[in-house]
Amino acid sequence: MPKGTKFYLHVFGCQMNVYDADRLRSALVNRGWVEVPEDTAKVIVFVTCSIREKAEQKVLSALGRHGRSRSRASRPLVAVIGCMAQRMGEELMRRFPWVSLVAGPRHLGLVPEALDDALRNGRRHLLLDANAREVIDLDEIPIVRSNPYKAYVTIAHGCDNFCTYCIVPYVRGRFRSRRPEDVIYEVEHLVKSGVLEVTLVGQNVNSYGRDLKGYGFPRLLEDVASIPGLVRLRFTTSHPRDFTDDLIEVMARVESICPSVNLPIQSGSDRILRLMNRGYTVAEYAAKVERLRDALPQLGLTSDLIVGFPTESDEDFRASLRALEVFRFDQVHTASYSPREGTPAARMTGQIPEETKRERLCAVNALQSEIALEINKGLVGKECEILLDGFAPKGEGLLQGRTVTDKVVIVPGGANCLGKFALVKLVRAEHWCLHGEILSLRAFPLREREVRDRAG
Ligand code: SAH
Ligand code: SF4
Ligand code: F3S
Repeated sequence: MPKGTKFYLHVFGCQMNVYDADRLRSALVNRGWVEVPEDTAKVIVFVTCSIREKAEQKVLSALGRHGRSRSRASRPLVAVIGCMAQRMGEELMRRFPWVSLVAGPRHLGLVPEALDDALRNGRRHLLLDANAREVIDLDEIPIVRSNPYKAYVTIAHGCDNFCTYCIVPYVRGRFRSRRPEDVIYEVEHLVKSGVLEVTLVGQNVNSYGRDLKGYGFPRLLEDVASIPGLVRLRFTTSHPRDFTDDLIEVMARVESICPSVNLPIQSGSDRILRLMNRGYTVAEYAAKVERLRDALPQLGLTSDLIVGFPTESDEDFRASLRALEVFRFDQVHTASYSPREGTPAARMTGQIPEETKRERLCAVNALQSEIALEINKGLVGKECEILLDGFAPKGEGLLQGRTVTDKVVIVPGGANCLGKFALVKLVRAEHWCLHGEILSLRAFPLREREVRDRAG
């Protein structure tokens, strides 16, 4: 590979893409390439997402801009990888002649060599596969990450749930657990390289091990949590149907597992949940939440919700609003239903007009912001501990960190505080974050009990 090649990664989508991008970045840096800002890059890689039409449109317009922005000679080599590459591969090659490489998420392992070949020989590569079971993975530990203190580690590829609205099973392929020893080896390396917080990721982490003999997610969680030097362990996303009591028991017992869960409900109407093929009712969901809150009084609980699924009536929609009021989530990722070609829901009759979807989205967002603000206001005046992991998105001299319950806290501070645990006093609440002041800093966290006693 030509050493010193300047590259830029543009990452869209979920944490699985962040993980893939971190591994690709590590692979390229290990081969002597250098990461630079976008405008000076010789190679630009888009790591893409297909979850909603909007996610794809962002990439399409960025690709369009590229073709026009620079003269042919100075134009960077453009590669498109990830879920959208898998979904639209050939069309991308046709529409954007300046795209040199398109590779689906199950072909990540071939990307570094293909980039090299495209650069040296000017050949175009289309790396897609028809076999949803095959994964040509990139055997690389994500040592060079977008964030030095925290890392994502994918524990399973693909998804077999086939929720009727969702494109993921089609683009990421069949569910396959990574071997526990590979996950553990990787986390050990990450911890040695300075990582303090690891998030295990998968589209349904709770079904981890279904294809391994007698080794399930609770066991993996406990084994990873016992790696010396790992301070915080998180996981996402959890499927409500597969969230077991064993898992709740491990979470309650093992201190380094953070008491925070993302448990997507998707709708508050049993009729819609059935049409979505989610495999649970609102009452079953409520029973899981109750068990979680009983076992983990501190629990931070977030969720995902779709509005405007085909045939969603006013009554179904009101049931979703009610669910927000009943469960009082700390945060909800809301989305307006976006038909994805090839999925069963896209073919259903009773598609909801855009205007209605927009109104419903505004209504859930307004209600959820109110709830989140109330919850956060209740924390003002208390103390909590955060891991300072980056600069705040806005405002000079501000850092941000997260509590064990996954709340964002913004504090005044300098770069020298990054990577440290701060005991903070919470002074002001917004719906999406809290503002605080640092009381003390340390390299290692307080024991959970000490923090809980302070937080009251
Ligand atoms: N595996 C996770 C979610 C993966 S996708 C789960 O089972 O919940 C992330 C979120 O995107 C979903 O929770 C859902 O709320 C949203 N989403 C997925 N497909 C969508 C679609 N077609 N339209 C709108 N939102 C969608
Ligand atoms: Fe999509 Fe459902 Fe799989 Fe989540 S569980 S990735 S929503 S098919
Ligand atoms: Fe998007 Fe693929 Fe993740 S479709 S949400 S990047 S698995």
